[in-house]
Parts: sequence; structure tokens; C-alpha cells
Amino acid sequence: MKKAPTLLCMLLLSQLPLSVSAAEFQDRMRGPTPLDQTAPPPPIVNPDNSDVRRSRNYAMQPPVVPHKIEGYQLDKNANRCMMCHARTRTQESQAPMISVTHFMDREGNFLAELSPRRYFCLQCHVPQANLNPLVDNEFKDVDTMLNQAPPAPSPVRKK
Ligand code: HEC
Ligand code: HEC
Repeated sequence: MKKAPTLLCMLLLSQLPLSVSAAEFQDRMRGPTPLDQTAPPPPIVNPDNSDVRRSRNYAMQPPVVPHKIEGYQLDKNANRCMMCHARTRTQESQAPMISVTHFMDREGNFLAELSPRRYFCLQCHVPQANLNPLVDNEFKDVDTMLNQAPPAPSPVRKK
């Protein structure tokens, strides 16, 4: 009988997550629609098609896509992106060549072709649209950090 309170506790704890009702759950993407109902899909937006290459937030950031990619086939049979971004296509397309890192295997050896781990471009490169961000972001790039006024020097070091 000593085990009864422990068991009761465990039982209560196991019920905890269930006590958050579906109506209370709020997700920035699906909005206030309860979990047991289907949220209406957001309207399709017009992606940025300005062709203006955006500056990167840090040196290793995959650049974002400044053009429409609607209808570009990208599956095991065909890679439409490479029809313009491949080394041999850039003269004709005037697109920037895929980065040299895209020819490297995971050991850092250079391959003759696009590395399979870089095949699905949209894993890393995404088109942009004028939308409200779903989550707040306080990211500052390194230049902003370096240009910030240094804090006043304090004689005593606080620990
Ligand atoms: C018809 C040719 C063409 C196709 C197909 C194409 N691109 Fe591009 N892409 C360009 C050109 C040209 C630019 C240079 C900027 C511009 O004119 O839009 C560019 C720019 C980019 C950039 C920006 C590079 C930078 O340094 O800022 C990325 C990323 C990119 N494309 C990714 C893709 C991906 C991913 C696909 C496939 C889903 C794709 N592109 C398909 C022609 C193409
Ligand atoms: C695993 C992530 C990843 C995938 C997949 C990927 N890229 Fe990239 N890409 C990057 C990163 C990170 C950079 C910037 C740093 C660098 O050069 O590696 C980049 C850079 C680029 C650049 C700019 C090159 C330059 O010199 O300015 C182009 C263009 C590009 N990628 C096109 C593509 C295309 C087209 C594909 C698909 C065939 C692709 N990438 C797949 C991560 C990726």
C-alpha cells in the first residue's frame, strides 16, 4: 500500500500534458484554429522576383533566392536550378556559379560534379516574400556588433 501515493503521482503527472486543451494551444503558423480543426491555408504570396542579390548576414549564409522558382523541377530526375547555376551554364545564363563548396564531398575532396549532398538546393536556399516573420528575431551581424559603442570601462570586475 506504500506504493499507492507514488502511483497516484505518476498517474497525475502522466495526465498533465493532456490538461492543456486544444483551444489553448497557439501556434504562430496555424493561428487560433483549434488543433482538431483544419486551418484555412494562407493566401499564396508573390515571391521576390527583383533579381537583386541580397547581402548575406554572415559569410557562410546560403544566399537567398532573388528570383521566382515556380515550376522549376527539382527531383531525382531533373535539377532545373543547375540548368543555369552549373559551371558550364553560367556564361549563357549569367547566373552566379554554385559555390566551390558544392563540389566537395564530406571529406573535403573536390568532385568533378555537384556533390550529392548539395543536390536539393532548396534545403538551404529559399525564395523570399514580403511577409510578417512568424518568430521575432534579434540577430545582429558582426559589423553591427563591432560598431556598437563599447560599454564604459568599469574599474571593479563583477562576477
Ligand atoms: C533561368 C535561369 C535560372 C534558374 C533556372 C535558376 N536560377 Fe538562380 N539565379 C539566376 C540568375 C540570373 C541569378 C542572379 C540574380 C538574378 O538575376 O536573379 C540567380 C541568383 C540566384 C541566387 C542568389 C545568389 C547570390 O549570390 O545572391 C540563388 C541562391 C539562386 N539563384 C538559387 C536558385 C535555385 C535554388 C534555383 C532552382 C530552384 C535557381 N536558382 C534556378 C538564374 C537562374
Ligand atoms: C546544404 C546546404 C546547401 C545546398 C543543398 C545548396 N547550397 Fe548553395 N550555398 C550554401 C552555402 C552555405 C553557401 C554560401 C557559402 C559557400 O559558398 O559554401 C552557398 C552558396 C551558393 C551560391 C553562391 C555562390 C557564390 O560564389 O556566390 C549559389 C549560386 C548557390 N549556392 C547555388 C546553389 C544551387 C543551385 C544548389 C542546388 C544545386 C545549392 N546551392 C545547394 C548551401 C547550400
